[in-house]
Amino acid sequence: MFSLEVAAFGGTAVALTLGAKAYTTYHDTSAQLTTPAALPGAPLWPEQLPAPQVTPQGTFLGMSDELLIERMRRGEVKSLRFNRGGSSISFRVDFKDGSRASFKPAQTNPQSVPRKEVAAYRLSRYLGLNLIPPAVMRTLSREDVLGKLAPESAFMRPRVEAETIFENGATTGVLSYWIPTIVNMGLDSPEGVKRWTEWLTIGNRIPPDKIHIMAQLSTLLLFDLVQNNSDRFSGGNLVGAPDGRTLYYMDNAFGFQVDPQGHLRCRSYLARAQKFSRGFVERLRRLDRAAVRAALAEEPGPPLLYDAEIDALLSRRDVALRHVDRLVQEYGEEQVLVFP
Ligand SMILES: Nc1ncnc2c1ncn2[C@@H]1O[C@H](COP(=O)(O)OP(=O)(O)O)[C@@H](O)[C@H]1O
Ligand SMILES: [Mg+2]
Repeated sequence: MFSLEVAAFGGTAVALTLGAKAYTTYHDTSAQLTTPAALPGAPLWPEQLPAPQVTPQGTFLGMSDELLIERMRRGEVKSLRFNRGGSSISFRVDFKDGSRASFKPAQTNPQSVPRKEVAAYRLSRYLGLNLIPPAVMRTLSREDVLGKLAPESAFMRPRVEAETIFENGATTGVLSYWIPTIVNMGLDSPEGVKRWTEWLTIGNRIPPDKIHIMAQLSTLLLFDLVQNNSDRFSGGNLVGAPDGRTLYYMDNAFGFQVDPQGHLRCRSYLARAQKFSRGFVERLRRLDRAAVRAALAEEPGPPLLYDAEIDALLSRRDVALRHVDRLVQEYGEEQVLVFP
């Protein structure tokens, strides 16, 4: 399975199609688990743990990405509600078929750039992750946005009108599949950060019920440097499933600035982690310009990222891998690449 995974990430459009059939994410139970580490007290993947959930490529919460995407592309808007708690213009859209999505229109807020959310989703998919809700670009008319605001959101209308960018009576934004229940995972509070830093430090044991989350968090720290999302620990962007075993990588509309080293915040959070997923690191290593382009081209329409943004992304990938490689050099693979 593992070698198939690697082979599937050959970096061409053909490999991408092959990959879609051949690999599963790092939750795959059949993935090779790492050999127990040699250090006393070093983290193991405890055998007594229930097997991680198998999540085949191309599904999100057990539903096919394609199905969710089709619904979002075609759904007829019934109503919009303003999402509180964020800093940008963001709605929950209810479609007439009963499905839901979040919608972030084109807007004046620089921290909310719709194409970046879709780029993050497509890139995460290519890297074998399925923790970003499926996201698509969609143009909604002014009438759909302003005319269908639910009564409880009517008071936000002046702000929506002021900050949404309408061109020719429409705005092009991002729709993301609406996750019915999310909870704060407590990973961005000062105590939370202190706790996970300890768990992700070589030589410290991870409590068995935290292993899934720690695997997902350490991968997120790498992924956030690659996408240069420095907004992750700003509050409200580290949420997950109520069972405490799944982290969702939500709110990715801010990154991809042309910065070859990556934001200091991304680098300093990554510096707190010393344990990583072997499969994800492999896939990251195999990423190249053609692969990024192919992954992003899955979304029809104008390119999601400019060439300069892709160059900077690949450079940050190198920065992220240097962190992992330095640790491997010092402690050995067995200690560092502890997650499947
Ligand atoms: N796809 C989604 N599924 C469920 N809830 C969402 C989704 N997108 C956004 N939300 C909710 O809306 C809030 C604001 O959205 P977010 O994407 O974080 O925007 P902002 O950039 O304004 O912080 C989130 O904290 C979350 O509670
Ligand atoms: Mg947010």
